[in-house]
Amino acid sequence: MQVIVLATQKGGSGKSTIARSIAAELTRRGRVALLDIDPQGSLTKWWQRRETEDLQLITGLTRADQISKAVETLRGQGFDWLIIDTPGARDEATRIALRSADLVLVPVHPSQDDLDAVGPTVAEIRDAGANFIFVLSRTTRARIVDETGRLLAAHGRVAPAIVGARVAHGEAATRGLTAAEAGNAAAADEVRELVNYVLEVMG
Ligand SMILES: Nc1ncnc2c1ncn2[C@@H]1O[C@H](COP(=O)(O)OP(=O)(O)OP(=O)(O)O)[C@@H](O)[C@H]1O
Ligand SMILES: [Mg+2]
Repeated sequence: MQVIVLATQKGGSGKSTIARSIAAELTRRGRVALLDIDPQGSLTKWWQRRETEDLQLITGLTRADQISKAVETLRGQGFDWLIIDTPGARDEATRIALRSADLVLVPVHPSQDDLDAVGPTVAEIRDAGANFIFVLSRTTRARIVDETGRLLAAHGRVAPAIVGARVAHGEAATRGLTAAEAGNAAAADEVRELVNYVLEVMG
């Protein structure tokens, strides 16, 4: 089982949206489990609205020891991938999740506020000894994407696949779906490309 963790100390950068999108895409390729360690529970609420029972969810765990135990239990259950959604804050639970990660995805919305959060986020991930990639998230203009990508490249690897800003993400989420599942072809292309890249990096 490969563990993919969504993490960044900047709130609202797209962690939960990307967690859902890649989870749904990965169910087309194997068995996927979700672990929501964000007390806000965005991923959990989405999962509860979802009608298809294709994703196993573990939620409501906040203590570090509970989280590492849950990951170990899932390892014995034949899942191909586990996706962990974390809160946008530095805490012990997130540190445990980072330590279990095969790959951490760090969504970065191209804005100064998100860029300012990159240093502390990267330090926390490095402390945990995890591999990570930046994923440009909620992007609009190509020029700003290029510029942000260049700045980020000084700190780590930047996924060539980006997640564009699309209203379809929020709309689909109200029905427990992803934008791709709701029929948004551009979002489907983006997530397929992102998942291909993520799998390639994890090897
Ligand atoms: N690619 C996108 N296009 C349009 N809207 C998006 C996109 N990604 C996220 N959003 C919207 O931005 C908001 C924040 O996204 P999301 O909840 O995924 O971020 P987060 O990093 O999980 O936030 P938090 O730190 O609060 O957990 C949500 O309203 C979501 O619908
Ligand atoms: Mg979230």
